[in-house]
Amino acid sequence: MRKFLASLAKPLVDALLQPNVSRLHSINEIQKAASVRCHKYVYDYIAGGSDDESALRNNAESFRNKFDAYPFVLNGVGPENVCTKTRILGTVEVDVPFIPAPIAGNAMFHTDGERAVARVAKRFGTTYALSTLATTSCEEIKACLDENDGDGDKTHKMFQMYVWNEGELVDEALRKAKESGFETLVLTVDLTWFGNRERDKRNGFSIPPKLSDPKFIYECLKKPCWTVDAVRGWKSRTFEYAALRDDTKLMEKQRDDMAGFVRDVFNPTFDWEDAKALREKWGKKFILKGVHRADDAVKAFEYLKADAVWISNHGGRQLDGAVAPFDALPGIRKAVGEDKELIIDGGIRRGSDIALALALGANAVAIGKPVAFGLAAGGEKGVERTFTILKEELERTMGLVGARTIAELRSKGNEIFVKRERLRNSS
Ligand SMILES: Cc1cc2nc3c(=O)[nH]c(=O)nc-3n(C[C@H](O)[C@H](O)[C@H](O)COP(=O)(O)O)c2cc1C
Repeated sequence: MRKFLASLAKPLVDALLQPNVSRLHSINEIQKAASVRCHKYVYDYIAGGSDDESALRNNAESFRNKFDAYPFVLNGVGPENVCTKTRILGTVEVDVPFIPAPIAGNAMFHTDGERAVARVAKRFGTTYALSTLATTSCEEIKACLDENDGDGDKTHKMFQMYVWNEGELVDEALRKAKESGFETLVLTVDLTWFGNRERDKRNGFSIPPKLSDPKFIYECLKKPCWTVDAVRGWKSRTFEYAALRDDTKLMEKQRDDMAGFVRDVFNPTFDWEDAKALREKWGKKFILKGVHRADDAVKAFEYLKADAVWISNHGGRQLDGAVAPFDALPGIRKAVGEDKELIIDGGIRRGSDIALALALGANAVAIGKPVAFGLAAGGEKGVERTFTILKEELERTMGLVGARTIAELRSKGNEIFVKRERLRNSS
């Protein structure tokens, strides 16, 4: 009976309290809606960066005011023939050239959690990447996608890995990912030390939150929509990291002191040789995430035999002052050559940013905060809205510049987007 009443209450609560995301027309508006719906601690966790947040700001600014578009007119590209399909990792066909980046703790944003992102990724014909610190397990993601894979069109699943100190935890994580049909391992290497996230320190943010904190409770009262949803999820332990659910000691540790937890449980001295051993143990497709330098990218392909390199500074949450991925991209592309695959993330807020990244040498891009804000603003519908906005903006950019396909956008990229200085100097 209780279950029945709860199933009736959910749509009612959603209808009354959830914002109407169809009225949001840009990622900026989605971010604002997330800040309105969501608990302050949670919003700050998503939106914040490390130290002075200069890398965070610089990521987004790196896309602005450096390149001008030089569109080909009378180009014959219309909504019926524009095509955003491409291929990544050699063999994986995707309908859009963007993928949701792995993000920890999704259920804190909205109890629809990681499943919502996975389902939307499936609907948009792209891949899904699950974080080591997700609130949903590999098995749960597999079950959720299998349910939605009825048409036989399988969603490619990536498992993102932080390297645990204890070898057993690493083996366990790899085993679970393999058993659940995850095809690609994404090894994130920019979180050997935990970034100095001052907003979280100030707020005393933890996953799950500390209910004894009066300020936390006060903030709950200010955000009834988030709070009602969170209360619904509390009993089913939705907020806990799936990988730690059965380890009370580790759960307590991360709750008391996230930086200390990262220091204790992840291996900061993990090096190239260890990465090679891990890559060989995994034996399937492999991506190195968190690369900033051209020489590291070359080594990832040559020494680790990586299938792709993921240029990222963790969305400005780790090393403040780290080069913006978009600024690092041309140098890395030049060093690795044309046939190696590069994924890039950080600061992408418009479909035109996606077009620019592809034109300058990325094979695909990943989207972090815009997806998290979508979830925080309106659950699965909010994530859907983020994907819809980015896809429509990308298509419109392609139509206006005259690139019918992603291949065309990439091959004519240097003609379509030209460095502002170069044109000024030539005129
Ligand atoms: C709230 C949050 C949690 C994140 N958690 C992870 C994680 O668990 N693993 C990981 O590799 N990257 C994580 N990232 C980094 C993203 O995968 C991605 O690199 C970054 O968000 C891209 O920048 P953008 O947010 O500007 O798109 C996280 C980012 C955010 C915003």
